[in-house]
Amino acid sequence: MTTTIKPAVAGAELWAKKDYGKTYRSAGEGLMQKPIIQLVEQSGVVEAVQAGRRVDVWDNACGTGSVTAKFVAAVRDLPNTNWSVIGTDFSESMIESAKERAQEESWLNVEIRVADAQVSKELNFECTAQR
Ligand SMILES: C[S@@+](CC[C@H](N)C(=O)[O-])C[C@H]1O[C@@H](n2cnc3c(N)ncnc32)[C@H](O)[C@@H]1O
Repeated sequence: MTTTIKPAVAGAELWAKKDYGKTYRSAGEGLMQKPIIQLVEQSGVVEAVQAGRRVDVWDNACGTGSVTAKFVAAVRDLPNTNWSVIGTDFSESMIESAKERAQEESWLNVEIRVADAQVSKELNFECTAQR
């Protein structure tokens, strides 16, 4: 049996639109709040930081950084500072908005960059964000 896997690029033109990051941040993110909160809660990453463990998060398809924002807000004042996040997305517009948010919220330990999750050479990174 042959299974054809279609690339996960649904909406690719939309995400790539100039300034779409601003639109998503002001309009789309609100719809995603519940799943975003559940994702951060269920992943166990906050508990791992609370338990004093080293935690490196890859926020794949981070968009405007809404998931990273929840994680950072939950851990930034904890005594364990041994954590980092790398957020990647293939949309320059979304990444631009994520970087704006990082500045506005003074994120530490977070690196945001353009990378296509389907192109392995673009994922050749380590979590290098440093406090
Ligand atoms: C619905 S948004 C979700 C953004 C964010 N994770 C959130 O929950 O608010 C989907 C994101 O996936 C990104 N995306 C889709 N395919 C991708 C790929 N192959 N590599 C990287 N990012 C991708 C889009 O650019 C878009 O920012």
